[in-house]
Amino acid sequence: MTRLLAADPAGIAAAADILRGGGLVAFPTETVYGLGADSTDDRAVARIFAAKGRPRFNPLIVHVSDAELAFRLGRSDGSSRALAAAFWPGPLTLVLPAAEDCPVSLLARAGLDTVALRVPVHPVARALLAAAGLPVAAPSANRSGHVSPTTAAHVLDDLAGQIDAVLDGGPCPIGVESTVLDLSGTRPTLLRPGGVTVEAIEAVIGPIALAGRSDGSAPKSPGRLESHYAPSLPLRLDALDVAPDEALLAFGPAPPPAPLAINLSREGDLTEAAARLYAALRSLDAEARKRGLTRIAVMPIPPRGLGLAIADRLHRAAAPRSPRAGRDGG
Ligand code: TXA
Ligand code: MG
Repeated sequence: MTRLLAADPAGIAAAADILRGGGLVAFPTETVYGLGADSTDDRAVARIFAAKGRPRFNPLIVHVSDAELAFRLGRSDGSSRALAAAFWPGPLTLVLPAAEDCPVSLLARAGLDTVALRVPVHPVARALLAAAGLPVAAPSANRSGHVSPTTAAHVLDDLAGQIDAVLDGGPCPIGVESTVLDLSGTRPTLLRPGGVTVEAIEAVIGPIALAGRSDGSAPKSPGRLESHYAPSLPLRLDALDVAPDEALLAFGPAPPPAPLAINLSREGDLTEAAARLYAALRSLDAEARKRGLTRIAVMPIPPRGLGLAIADRLHRAAAPRSPRAGRDGG
């Protein structure tokens, strides 16, 4: 039985109790809903992997209430401190060398000597972290390989009965996951574009490297494996017209005619488009299947600012789904 908790003081206190007792709670963040567990408890972390059907080589992000705590778990340097000052709390995840006495479960780190850290800004996430008093491991609260949830109802669609509770904080304002930046190597490297733009990061620490697309062989960030964030119908990217058997995911003021369409932003606003992306993919997928359509055509999205994260997720949703790649997502 999965409890649906209101995001009020009583609901947050109940959710914190569940986390402290080794249970699983989905909670809202500014990006997407996370599936939280005590990151220092091996059994609690193992339950996350089981509930999501997530491969164990894919490590989890650890959520903490402030930068000071983050830098007790991971080793900071000038770049990480500058980025924390600029973007925390907020949608940026930093991969740092793990501190020697890092209490985060090795399972959550997938055995790596690094740890991914994030300080969320969503008030419900912050209240939960404060009440639990724990570093909370939290991947997106979807079945592995599915589209990330941006409402409590999306979480229940995937995980009802598998987790202890969902804290309902309404829709997530940003709508795509955090930016993952690896600071553990010789050069800052973007592992996943997300809520903080590359342009904004480079304004603080200068040029960063963009990790090449994974070929699935030896992933540095295992979540980069291609097929991911996928609806059930296939996607056709950069579509400028629509076939009779296709639904359309539109962007901008002049979409081509289509039997069924959702526009991410008529004004061509990338922030609005990111906030609507996952809900649009879910409802377009469901409605198109109901009507016997066989594919989703997707208009081009400019790959700048938040558009880079949107284009990345659409590219993965469109990637071929080999049995292996198709279930490697987070
Ligand atoms: O916005 C977000 O980041 C959301 C919310 C809930 O915070 N979380 C999220 O988690 O998207 P998840 O597990 O779906 O994606 C985490 C990504 C994966 O691509 C994973 O491989 C990468 O971060 N990651 C985690 N730890 C890592 C590490 N030590 N080294 C490299 N990549 C890591
Ligand atoms: Mg995920």
